[in-house]
Amino acid sequence: MHSTTTKSQRGGGVIERYQEFLPVSPATPLISLGEGNTPLIYSPRLSERVGYGCEVFVKNEGVNPTGSFKDRGMTVAVSKAMERGTKALICASTGNTSASAAAYAARAGISCVVVLPAGKIATGKLLQAFAYGAKAVPIDGNFDDALRIVRELGETGDFTIVNSINPDRIAGQKTAAFEIVDELGDAPGFHLLPVGNAGNITAYWAGYQEYLAFKRSTRLPSMIGFQAAGAAPIFHDRIIEKPDTVASAIRIGNPASWQQARAVIVESHGAIDVVSDNDILAAQSLLAQHEGIFVEPASAASIAGLFKWCDTDDAAPSFQKIRENSRIVCTVTGHGLKDPDAIIRRMKESKPVAATVKDVLRAIEL
Ligand code: F0G
Repeated sequence: MHSTTTKSQRGGGVIERYQEFLPVSPATPLISLGEGNTPLIYSPRLSERVGYGCEVFVKNEGVNPTGSFKDRGMTVAVSKAMERGTKALICASTGNTSASAAAYAARAGISCVVVLPAGKIATGKLLQAFAYGAKAVPIDGNFDDALRIVRELGETGDFTIVNSINPDRIAGQKTAAFEIVDELGDAPGFHLLPVGNAGNITAYWAGYQEYLAFKRSTRLPSMIGFQAAGAAPIFHDRIIEKPDTVASAIRIGNPASWQQARAVIVESHGAIDVVSDNDILAAQSLLAQHEGIFVEPASAASIAGLFKWCDTDDAAPSFQKIRENSRIVCTVTGHGLKDPDAIIRRMKESKPVAATVKDVLRAIEL
């Protein structure tokens, strides 16, 4: 590996750490913002909620450089794009991919076009695309329309597509599974995560399988994906023409990696399930207020799913049949500050009080 900037031991990202498992060579320029190496946080409260002596860990991907897991795949996709001499990136996005692509394009010194469903991108994410200097093109359509257009524009040869249909994205994202195994000493029993376009569930499974093949682990987890109830094409096994959910990141009706996700669920003896918007928002609040981890709504789908599986006793999707002392990892995918709107609506603006200790004390007591 050689770097386009001065190489430093600090701030190295997933390519430096896992290059032997990635499609890179000494000829690949390293475009990194120090992504990966995210916290795997043990949660006593969630563990207690599951019971059976299980341990629950939260993999907090919101602390990546642009605030989501997309950066893991983007460092590889953009480094490879640079190796091939690309001049411009393009992607469709519900917000996080565009934020990440824009940042890595800026780092690489190339241009970036992001095609977005108009009015459906969380404020913080749209702001990121502008801040990093991407050309944002809103369309009158949803994410699935945007991806269709991007696929066609990719064929012109003028752009490198950096959606997860680009295999370099999946390769980079599988490093999250490597980190979990490296930290726990083996793969967990269950891995829960939100599913939108289904790239991430595909990537995690690839990572777990590769580590097993290289004898870095002795087993594979059951992969359990959660879709929002109003945007659940894989769960219902049909395209959803007008997907709708408060979790705008996973508002997708025709996922690109649909077949791969189905295969993951079968091969891992896992499942795909749905969670309601209310349950997503409740899980988001709980995680922030009881664990100190503030995530965007889509990310809370894995936690909402954990609760659903704890509380369901008769349906197939249930932890009732869980093996005792299992380890469960829940990935939370993006930072809460990206999507302030839902919280702002619930925020009660309090009136300022006089600048005295007495008045502040009185306000605290209210
Ligand atoms: N969580 C967040 C915060 C996301 O942004 C996404 C996808 C997902 C979960 C689902 O991951 O698509 O790999 O199944 N966001 C994409 C985007 C679609 O454009 O930012 P997936």
